[in-house]
Amino acid sequence: MAISRNALVAGNWKMNGVSASLAELKAIAEGVAGGAAGTAACAICLPATLLARGAEIAGQHLLVGGQDCSAETFGAHTGDLAAEMLRDSGASLVIVGHSERRADHGETNAVVRAKAEAAYRAGLTAIICVGETRPQRDAGDALEICGAQLEGSLPPGATPDNTVLAYEPVWAIGTGLVPTVDDVAAMHAFFRAQLKALLPHGGDALRILYGGSVKPDNAESLMRIDNVDGALIGGASLKAKDFLAIASVYA
Ligand code: PGA
Repeated sequence: MAISRNALVAGNWKMNGVSASLAELKAIAEGVAGGAAGTAACAICLPATLLARGAEIAGQHLLVGGQDCSAETFGAHTGDLAAEMLRDSGASLVIVGHSERRADHGETNAVVRAKAEAAYRAGLTAIICVGETRPQRDAGDALEICGAQLEGSLPPGATPDNTVLAYEPVWAIGTGLVPTVDDVAAMHAFFRAQLKALLPHGGDALRILYGGSVKPDNAESLMRIDNVDGALIGGASLKAKDFLAIASVYA
């Protein structure tokens, strides 16, 4: 590998978590502080209602992030959250363009790009998600679809510091299904070439995560694939034991 990228193991709690769930976050923070993930960076993207308390519990070694932000800076947008508000609550990252938001809220590539730019303005790292549906993969269109999502969603100002790409096949999210090692390798190599072309000065160093049914028993084989620089974990990030078992691939 031409460049060493420090892995990122990120959890996505989605619309899960109330005050009592902070005990799991505390256990994750303690595990990470104790070296469970080696030198890999670890983060949990929390529901916004838990961010401020979560940031305190997370401490020095575990990052916390949001799961979405507005493309706008501030103002009359009832119910939306500005990236700056997430930052003010202790977030250092935010997921943008998760397939659940693309599907449930009609977010287009242009919207996702504007949200990533809002994240940059607030000093947050954007985790930009892309991924194909099952019919798209079956039709042989996965690379083309994901390539177009990446090109449309990635702001020109993306750098390896302010942006992480996450490949999440929609059909692998929450299903227990995962693509083959060869399919993940092909997609991540394709993204790497595209990132180098789009960002001549940073495309080689920008991290590309795999997400979609990452579990303790498949993490090792997925994380060892070339150009897989970490994981975005949904269900398994809700339990400290599972999240730490996955992160321990990097210990
Ligand atoms: P999952 O979710 O790990 O539960 O499949 C991944 C995600 O949606 O980020």
